[in-house]
Amino acid sequence: MGDLTIRGAEMVLPSGVVTGDLSIVDGRIAEIGTVTDRRGEIIDARGLTLMPGVIDPQVHFREPGNAHKEDLESGSIAAAAGGVTAFLDMPNNDPPMITIESLHAKIARCVNRCRSNFGFFFGATPDNAAEVARLDPSMVPGLKIFMGASHGSLLVYEQEPLEALFAASPVPVVVHAEDELRLRARYAELGALTDASQHPIIRDATAALMATQRAVALAEKHSTRLHVLHLSTAEETEFLRARPDDGLVTTETLPQYLWLDASMYAELGTHLQMNPPVRSKRHQAALWAGLHDGTIACIATDHAPHTLEEKAQGFGKAPSGMPGVELSLPLMLHAVHAGRCSIEQVVQWMCAAPAEIYGMLGKGRLEVGFDGDVVLVDRKAERRVRNGALHTRVNWSPFDGWDLTGWPIMTVLRGDPVFRDGAIQPGVYGAPLRLQAPERVYRARV
Ligand code: DOR
Repeated sequence: MGDLTIRGAEMVLPSGVVTGDLSIVDGRIAEIGTVTDRRGEIIDARGLTLMPGVIDPQVHFREPGNAHKEDLESGSIAAAAGGVTAFLDMPNNDPPMITIESLHAKIARCVNRCRSNFGFFFGATPDNAAEVARLDPSMVPGLKIFMGASHGSLLVYEQEPLEALFAASPVPVVVHAEDELRLRARYAELGALTDASQHPIIRDATAALMATQRAVALAEKHSTRLHVLHLSTAEETEFLRARPDDGLVTTETLPQYLWLDASMYAELGTHLQMNPPVRSKRHQAALWAGLHDGTIACIATDHAPHTLEEKAQGFGKAPSGMPGVELSLPLMLHAVHAGRCSIEQVVQWMCAAPAEIYGMLGKGRLEVGFDGDVVLVDRKAERRVRNGALHTRVNWSPFDGWDLTGWPIMTVLRGDPVFRDGAIQPGVYGAPLRLQAPERVYRARV
């Protein structure tokens, strides 16, 4: 844990944007504004913007089981390079994370390997509610339920086990909301189609809405905190907006849904294939509106790397999912540059809100006493995204060839730079997130 003084940056504070200095002492933010006690390295950050480190609350880093796509080390390096100082990783590994023992083993794998702070979701099965009841809320951010089949073997869609899981969970329930029976019927009817553009037609908006409504009903019945992952439709946004703001249900969306749309399947083919699917511009506009009015609380990436060879198998065989953790901040800084949102909103959606939803102690804000997990960004830097020049092991992106304005240039973990001058720094590692998820999370509008 280090000391660092950052001078003259435009700082995105909870109270607004202020230009000044910030010091980190023993890994914690010590002073903001005028720094009287300068310690450690002094960084001249005039012309740059300082914000809390980004928190990506949904990634698939593939360890154990599929290190050829990504592992905890490579995924966390991609995170650090992208300004991400904390991530929450999904349980659809091989084998899946469905016992407390397997979760402990996964945490042990991070020690002196992960270059970003970490937390791991627990995976639901039709018969592990008793194990779920024993989860430690200070360690486990949430219980992941795949209500529709996606990548991996996890799936729970029958009413009885769903009721048992919602009733048992001492941690927030997070759902992949696509209705399994609707998906099966659609694949049976339409599955012979061979073009990736059919993906959002098969896995349609109705399948997503049905599952989201069902999950909300279960959360209401059992008074269980619910977070709906990767919201993709206008209809779900409308449904959640119309609910009373009772703090029970939160949701997120993805930069992919905000920037990519169904007209791009012709060019990108299976590279654009993910679950839930990238949909039409109508849905995209609704998701932006949902973020702006507070219906959608935060942004994740669903970073789901598959290799280009796996993606080249053609629609029907290629796995669903695309990488994202490394480019979410540049894409949202580009959105600021393009006038789609403000830098304060980016900090709310990518830092403060995920920290609040999962109760990450000391994270998500530039505030005295909070951890010195920060990212320095150059909002004017222009760079082209290039396959082959990324840190994720699969080394491709659906945004290949895009010119983005706004890039992270230094990522700091508790006062120690972990990524600077384009390179990962030796000896700097993340730590397990300390959690205390609130019982209610009300909408914020920034
Ligand atoms: O497209 C997806 N890929 N959606 C998911 O829910 C899982 C993910 C994966 O793990 O590849």
